[in-house]
Amino acid sequence: MTLRAELARRGLRLQDEDAVDSTNRIAVDAARQGVEEGLVVRARSQTAGRGRQGRTWNAAPGDALLVSFVRRPAVPLSEVTRLTLAAGLAVRDVAAEAGVDAWIKWPNDVFVGPKKLAGILCEWAGDALVVGIGVNLRTDRLPPEVRDHAACLGPTDPDDLLLRLADRLLGLEELIEDGGWIAVRARCAAAMWPMLGADVAVDGGPAAVVGLDEDGALLVRRPGADTPERLLAGDVHLGTEGATCCS
Ligand code: BTN
Repeated sequence: MTLRAELARRGLRLQDEDAVDSTNRIAVDAARQGVEEGLVVRARSQTAGRGRQGRTWNAAPGDALLVSFVRRPAVPLSEVTRLTLAAGLAVRDVAAEAGVDAWIKWPNDVFVGPKKLAGILCEWAGDALVVGIGVNLRTDRLPPEVRDHAACLGPTDPDDLLLRLADRLLGLEELIEDGGWIAVRARCAAAMWPMLGADVAVDGGPAAVVGLDEDGALLVRRPGADTPERLLAGDVHLGTEGATCCS
């Protein structure tokens, strides 16, 4: 069965592109124009890929899986963080299936050791959530300064990877919508094991990671503070962290 047909069986419609500026840009525009849930925009290369915190994520043909899912989740706005965290878990799980032992750096970056394997950018577009995922497939053609900080899955059939990722993502989404967040949260926390107890920098200041709370917020304790602080968004910096891929 073709990828398009396999995705259609799962209620997903593939928009397959060769070269784009950003799959998220295309998916967000489509969502704002009212496209139904289930659109999947996949591209072979990307020249103005969007990342979190103003980062960019570009890729030459074949170097990365570049995909954006348009979802209209049946969860209250206050619980959408659960889905964005679950996207990181979906990537981690797919990497594990491929024999790559990855961990999640809160909120949803995926690392192998100190190197970044995948980045995720979730964007709101009206009442739709666009889940944009970039997974490195190979790093040998990247500029050295980027390559040094990037991990990859290695030889992988990109169609098969997309299918497995879609299955994981939709499976976790369904679980969360059906009240299974507690179990998903526990799996996310376990997959963040290198961060737990680690010394990090938050907004330039030192802190220690305490855990992940019931809403998916990261709990960090600043020096001298009695109670942990809840981080709902942003980045924390670990000593082991590599630079982000790419450009
Ligand atoms: C980050 O690490 O800051 C997130 C990077 C997210 C990149 C992916 S690639 C596919 C999708 N399209 C985009 O423009 N961005 C996401």
